Amino acid sequence: MQKQYLLTAGPTPVPEEVLTAMARPVPYHRAPAFAECLKEAREGLQWIFQTTQPVLVLSGSGTAAMDAAVSNFLSAGDKVLVVRGGKFGERWAEIASAYGVSVVPLDVEWGRAVDPAAVARALDADPAIRAVYATATETSTGVRHPVDGLAAVCRSRAGVLCVVDAISALGVYDLPMDKAGFDVVVAGSQKALMLPPGLAFLAASEKAWQAHAAAKLPRFYLDLGREKKSQTAGETAFTPAVSLVVGLRESLRLLRADGLESTFARHAKLARATRAAGAGLGLEPYADPPSDSVTALKLPAGLDGSAVVRHMRTRYGVTIAGGQGKAKGKIIRLAHLGWYGSFDIITAVAALEMTLADLGAAVTPGAGVAAAQAVLREGT
Ligand SMILES: Cc1ncc(COP(=O)(O)O)c(C=O)c1O
Repeated sequence: MQKQYLLTAGPTPVPEEVLTAMARPVPYHRAPAFAECLKEAREGLQWIFQTTQPVLVLSGSGTAAMDAAVSNFLSAGDKVLVVRGGKFGERWAEIASAYGVSVVPLDVEWGRAVDPAAVARALDADPAIRAVYATATETSTGVRHPVDGLAAVCRSRAGVLCVVDAISALGVYDLPMDKAGFDVVVAGSQKALMLPPGLAFLAASEKAWQAHAAAKLPRFYLDLGREKKSQTAGETAFTPAVSLVVGLRESLRLLRADGLESTFARHAKLARATRAAGAGLGLEPYADPPSDSVTALKLPAGLDGSAVVRHMRTRYGVTIAGGQGKAKGKIIRLAHLGWYGSFDIITAVAALEMTLADLGAAVTPGAGVAAAQAVLREGT
């Protein structure tokens, strides 16, 4: 028997308070007690999205909200700009193409962030573009994209929406929806919201709701107009993932008790400690600029990332993520979003050091842990 540690960028660890709240008997979703729960959870979501707009709770993984963010705001034949440069940027393009939307890709080198000036140039070159689809933290590369800069570019163009996948960014660092001027923001439960997978969230600006009124793409289960009406009245249109909504209320209570600033500062410190550990081990960062959600590190030549991940899991019971798509085998990703604390970072780094040493890499065991500790001890 070996103790297991789940240290990925999703699913992320879930606090005990949330687990026990979800273990209680399932309430009926059309009864007043659940309406109260949904109301409180949705108020909490407005707080974390930093918006006065309604935030809709959808039952499905984050991709459900991405799907809805395409099908509810566009019509067939519309043209959109999609920022690619990682698996999740590519997903926006796949969803849009599946709906018959014409995609203008803006390709960014994997591991690098988009330049808002390039988006402005692309929009100037093609006034038919109706929306920009982007990713805040590109989880597959660890990059933080300057989505506030993209919102500024879109804001000055009347018919262009700025749609942001904040699935692995919301609650990690400051993404104030209303202040930044994002038109659609999507998030998911299994990231910084500290829940199991199964819920997705979406908020839309006035400008986006106007686009919704004219949008003709087919939709049924993920019809946001119907959801908005139902959820404003205290219910969801269909049976929601009831226990997850109960857990959501609890996780938002925990986050609100801590406060936004403190939550962002906690993530920033864990991220700095992880980056310091990478440097201590002589592992180059893959992402520039790196996000505070997940740290992607390049592996020494000759070392297969998949073997590192496998060895960490099977030999030490520590699950981290490797690379995806183009980065498969080349990087490992150490997560620090959601219910992560100092000793999750120490655990991951220690297991990584042991693994690298086992696999014959030239590392000094303890160098990464010591570098992380130096950051984690700051302010004591
Ligand atoms: C940035 C980003 N977008 C989209 C997704 C897809 O979310 P899901 O797997 O919940 O559908 C993820 C999940 O890892 C993600 O990190």
